[in-house]
Amino acid sequence: MANIDWSKLTFSYTKTNTILKTTFVDGAWTPVESLTDDYLHLSAYAGALHYAIECFEGLKAFRAKDGSVRLFRPEENAKRLQRSAQYLGIEAPSTEMFIEMCKRCVRENIEFLPPYEATGASLYLRPTLIGSNPQLGVQSSKESTFMILCSPVGAYVGGALDAVDVVIARNYDRAAPNGSGSYKVGGNYACSLRSLNIAHEQGYKAVLYLDPSTKTKIDEFNSSNFFGIKGNKYVTPKSESILPSITNASLEIVAAHLGMEVERREVPVEELSTFEEVGECGTAVVITPVHKLVDKPFLESDEETVYTYGDGKCGPKSLKLYNFITGLQKGEIEDPFGWIDIVEL
Ligand code: PLP
Ligand code: COI
Repeated sequence: MANIDWSKLTFSYTKTNTILKTTFVDGAWTPVESLTDDYLHLSAYAGALHYAIECFEGLKAFRAKDGSVRLFRPEENAKRLQRSAQYLGIEAPSTEMFIEMCKRCVRENIEFLPPYEATGASLYLRPTLIGSNPQLGVQSSKESTFMILCSPVGAYVGGALDAVDVVIARNYDRAAPNGSGSYKVGGNYACSLRSLNIAHEQGYKAVLYLDPSTKTKIDEFNSSNFFGIKGNKYVTPKSESILPSITNASLEIVAAHLGMEVERREVPVEELSTFEEVGECGTAVVITPVHKLVDKPFLESDEETVYTYGDGKCGPKSLKLYNFITGLQKGEIEDPFGWIDIVEL
């Protein structure tokens, strides 16, 4: 067993036993290797390093109440990676290969999988696909390298369910209209860093972006989707420039299952004052409630409109959704949707 204090885990790097790696070269994937060293031997001319020919995924493995080890909807991550790879014009693994490699990575790093009792902790898997052949011209890479990395993690920010303050960045975008916003490509995250760094300096945990064409509607956060609760309604933005979050899609189904109304539609900024609860949702953040949401004409200015939700704790509807989704993942609730994929040890 790894010597880890599971209760102190944050969302950060821990060296594990292995990472898995395979390369698509001359029309086929090389045999999957397990590497104990996570420093790569890679051409300095690899397209990933120059033109951000890179996409990735994030999913979690959980130790369930019955002792089984579970992945949550891994085929959705596989499909999204394939979609991102197609956008970048590089080869992606099949769904079967993706899931099999995720499972092998869990097995090889099983001592880094937090125990069932470690609330909010899991083994985070980071499937990563990069353009890896040496190149100089701007073009999609012929060769792609697919890896599965993993790290035991706890809450993304603060403690699980601690409410955060966030800020709208009106003078920054993470994605362009008709751009790459709906793909999980590394470049989107690079583009969010400037505004995120300023927001962090000001004490905000996340940035909320508006739609890049009209700046009148809510898009999403830098690393999660947005949802608002109004009465018995779960409201989440419909937009071409946001990542199709697997957690959000699952929450929509769970909310309906729990008798809530679900609305996926454009969310005008003015509607922010009408929500009773607002939150971030995603694999890393699960559900992170928002306490204060600050809207500034310029991120660097003092002028602001503040929306406050609840008292700093998770609101009742968000909590109900959180409990259901984490209950499913940890095997405390029977899975009515077929979302759980067991890792045979
Ligand atoms: N939006 C962005 C920009 C993200 O980085 C993530 C994280 O993956 C999400 C949303 C949530 O997506 P998912 O629920 O599939 O993890
Ligand atoms: C995830 O939620 O899995 C993500 O990929 C977010 C990450 C960018 C921190």
